[in-house]
Amino acid sequence: MSIEMHYYHMIYLDSAASYPLLPEVKKTLIESLDSFANPSSSHKLGEMEFSRIEEVRSLIADRLGALRSEILFTSGATESNNLAVKGCVLGSGKQFSDVHLVTSQSEHKCILNIFSYFESLGCHVTYLKPEATGVISADQVRSSLRPNTLLVSLMHVNNELGVINPIEEISNVCFEHGVKFHTDAAQSFCKVPVDVLDIEADFVSITAHKIGGPKGVGALYVRDLRSSNIMAVIHGAGQEEGLRGGTLPSSLIAGFGEAIKCFPAYYSDNIARLENILCSELGGGDIDYIVNGGGVERVKHITSITLPKLNPVVLVRETENEFCIAQGSACSSREIEPSHVLAAIGLDRELASKTFRLSYSHATTEEDIKMFAKRIGELSRE
Ligand SMILES: Cc1ncc(COP(=O)(O)O)c(C=O)c1O
Repeated sequence: MSIEMHYYHMIYLDSAASYPLLPEVKKTLIESLDSFANPSSSHKLGEMEFSRIEEVRSLIADRLGALRSEILFTSGATESNNLAVKGCVLGSGKQFSDVHLVTSQSEHKCILNIFSYFESLGCHVTYLKPEATGVISADQVRSSLRPNTLLVSLMHVNNELGVINPIEEISNVCFEHGVKFHTDAAQSFCKVPVDVLDIEADFVSITAHKIGGPKGVGALYVRDLRSSNIMAVIHGAGQEEGLRGGTLPSSLIAGFGEAIKCFPAYYSDNIARLENILCSELGGGDIDYIVNGGGVERVKHITSITLPKLNPVVLVRETENEFCIAQGSACSSREIEPSHVLAAIGLDRELASKTFRLSYSHATTEEDIKMFAKRIGELSRE
């Protein structure tokens, strides 16, 4: 069955954009709204809010193998990425023209925009081109490093392809060369192990709404935060070690904590079956398709599929009231330009326009997938 909520009756295949809110999280959010005190206040109610927040901070730290004092709350992965990269470059005290940074062509748009901003200020940036599978290798990173490389920022799981970068190896290369390493783990946190005892990451960005939590809250892990010279991006009244000002959204943080506790039980092996079902339905219906990022390790909830014989405009127009799917990624799906990720792995404009990202949740059923494949079959014959 489709996810049925009060405002739509559609088959939702876009969990990588935002995962359906978990029922336990919804309950926690509603209950926590009554606790209105400011967590920075020194009175009893303020202290109670503060200690609830600290419990979630500990939970996040446990999940990441980190210390509680190394976690900063933010509004989501976009802000975490900004704080990590801007905080690191500005905090280095170096002249922009002396700074070399490394990232990849297939990062989330927010990372690409931060890096292009630093390029405009005079920093030197290397944008690594992923292999045809979408993966960046540790060797590519090694050969990109220069004596003045300050930071490497590479995502853990690609949000359009679902491929997993070998960040343990990549982080080791950075560590050996004394270069800071940031990973955007928005798509991997609670889905693929992210443990800073194994991964030599200096910064890790995470967000709640990719794991059934609320939008508008996330966190940044900063290794040895108190001795790091990271610079604040949002100056405020001293919250979050003076590195991220603003009253903490305690309800959203409570919802984030509940999502972290509950999500693993929802992210079950049932999800892993769905791509195979899709492929066998399409194959059985004699429909040409290519799964992008094939042959490498991928997360189980994302399928990037190219349908070479299908008119994508017809698919979108004819099924817009039936399915929620993404062409490219959600943040760029209203742009006319084809996805930069698909271009980076070598798809031409035409094939990129015929590529869709399906992303599943615990609520996605075999019937949903069969229905999608059936509609593709019908529209391919039109
Ligand atoms: C890899 C990646 N990074 C960053 C973001 C942005 O996250 P948020 O919506 O929490 O700012 C997303 C989600 O769209 C993402 O998939």
